[in-house]
Amino acid sequence: MNRRILVTGGAGFIGSHLVDFLLKENEWEVAVVDNFDDFYSPEIKKANLKSHFSDPKFSLYEADIRSNLSSVFESFRPDIIVHLAALAGVRPSLLRPREYAEVNVAGTLNLLEMAKVYGVKKFIFGSSSSVYGEKCRVPFCEDDKAAYPISPYAATKLAGEHLCHTYSHLYGIQVVCLRFFTVYGARQRPDLAIHKFSKLIWEEKPIPVFGDGTTKRDYTYIDDIIQGLRRSIDYEESNYEIFNLGESRTVELGYLIELLEKNLGKKAIIEKKPMQPGDVSITFADISKAKMLLGYNPQTKIEDGIKKFAEWFKLQYF
Ligand SMILES: NC(=O)c1ccc[n+]([C@@H]2O[C@H](COP(=O)([O-])OP(=O)(O)OC[C@H]3O[C@@H](n4cnc5c(N)ncnc54)[C@H](O)[C@@H]3O)[C@@H](O)[C@H]2O)c1
Repeated sequence: MNRRILVTGGAGFIGSHLVDFLLKENEWEVAVVDNFDDFYSPEIKKANLKSHFSDPKFSLYEADIRSNLSSVFESFRPDIIVHLAALAGVRPSLLRPREYAEVNVAGTLNLLEMAKVYGVKKFIFGSSSSVYGEKCRVPFCEDDKAAYPISPYAATKLAGEHLCHTYSHLYGIQVVCLRFFTVYGARQRPDLAIHKFSKLIWEEKPIPVFGDGTTKRDYTYIDDIIQGLRRSIDYEESNYEIFNLGESRTVELGYLIELLEKNLGKKAIIEKKPMQPGDVSITFADISKAKMLLGYNPQTKIEDGIKKFAEWFKLQYF
């Protein structure tokens, strides 16, 4: 019999890739809970899922994770929840901290309650590299106790992990928290640098570069994130784990812009701006734990990933 998996935020960037992957495996009933919020165009999110609308193994519940979800759980009865719905993004969280807390903390709590009430055995939580803040040693390691978030978004993600731990401890729900390191690829959120910069370069408009261009990020290609997510669905060795999912390579902003210029075939116009509050200067994943326990093995170098991203991007904007 097919296993039943509920993907919250399944209409978004990462969620819709996971839905594609699971339906291709042909051994899952997949349901999505998403409220198509307007952080970016709901039309883009509908388009992300539209190829599945006629698939009998797929169902869509347009619902808010903060609302009463009993009817969803009554009708779908998931074995596993992959919780990706969130208000994402560091900078906007400084402007809407309460809303971020409501969705990312209260919404996560609501789903954990549903998991408890409906006997869901497994819960995978989409966390973030931002929880590490500025004080941790690089590369970031899951058991570093110096993880002090420096933005409301990051704080809500750390709070979500703590709630997951609590429910795992109290009710025996098996939980995996995945700390994603800047994810990119086709359908990337339009607010994220790679997508935002590509659009501005393409339109020959200035790109705002915060800081001196030496900030570093560990960029992770979407296929590698899906590989890590899929492996964590099968992971059963312990009741609660946190894993970094990154490429374990840091890329300077200046080099990222060079790669975009090369693959888009246009020069960037740089507009220098001061470093933004809430931004960290570096993210860098130690992935030895995910390699050892999940068999996670990221494959896509930034040079190849940006090439693929640019191919997708040009199809959207031509
Ligand atoms: N993309 C990244 O680089 C990255 C990095 C670290 C962590 N994450 C986390 O991964 C997850 C997915 O990120 P993404 O980039 O795909 O973002 P996304 O915005 O594309 O997807 C999130 C989805 O959640 C939905 N959503 C938002 N609020 C909701 C609510 N109240 N009820 C129901 N649905 C709601 C949105 O409509 C959207 O479809 C998020 O939890 C995010 O915090 C992403």
